Amino acid sequence: MKNDSELMDMAKEAMKSAYAPYSHFSVGAAVETDDGEVYCGCNIENSSYGATICAERTAISKAVSEGYRRITRIAICDSNNSFAWPCGICRQVMSEFAVEDFYVILEDNGKLSNFFLKELLPNSFSGKDMNKK
Ligand code: THU
Repeated sequence: MKNDSELMDMAKEAMKSAYAPYSHFSVGAAVETDDGEVYCGCNIENSSYGATICAERTAISKAVSEGYRRITRIAICDSNNSFAWPCGICRQVMSEFAVEDFYVILEDNGKLSNFFLKELLPNSFSGKDMNKK
């Protein structure tokens, strides 16, 4: 298992691969599974803007496509070096695979802070909500 700071370093490394010719805004993410595996991702833009995928979803997609469906935390960074708040779609995708106390690690001017997904996405919609009858 990595510590939060190591996970953030991995996110920063992944950010170097960002493909962001349109926004010129690079994002990196590193997600850890409950088995201690780490998957990293960057944002990948597209000339058809809506086809862009965020760094967080790149990382989570890599984990899930390798068979890991339980993620415990994610570190996110961006080229502004301030808190890289995840977008709403990414928060929803995190919630699909997040363990109970899943948290997001962000950095501002070199200082790490943690935020529980439950705070960032309260009363979230889940698959369970569809099966209540
Ligand atoms: N972006 C992310 O990678 N993650 C987020 O949570 C917010 C936005 C990317 C998408 C796009 O390439 C750029 O930032 C500007 O929206």
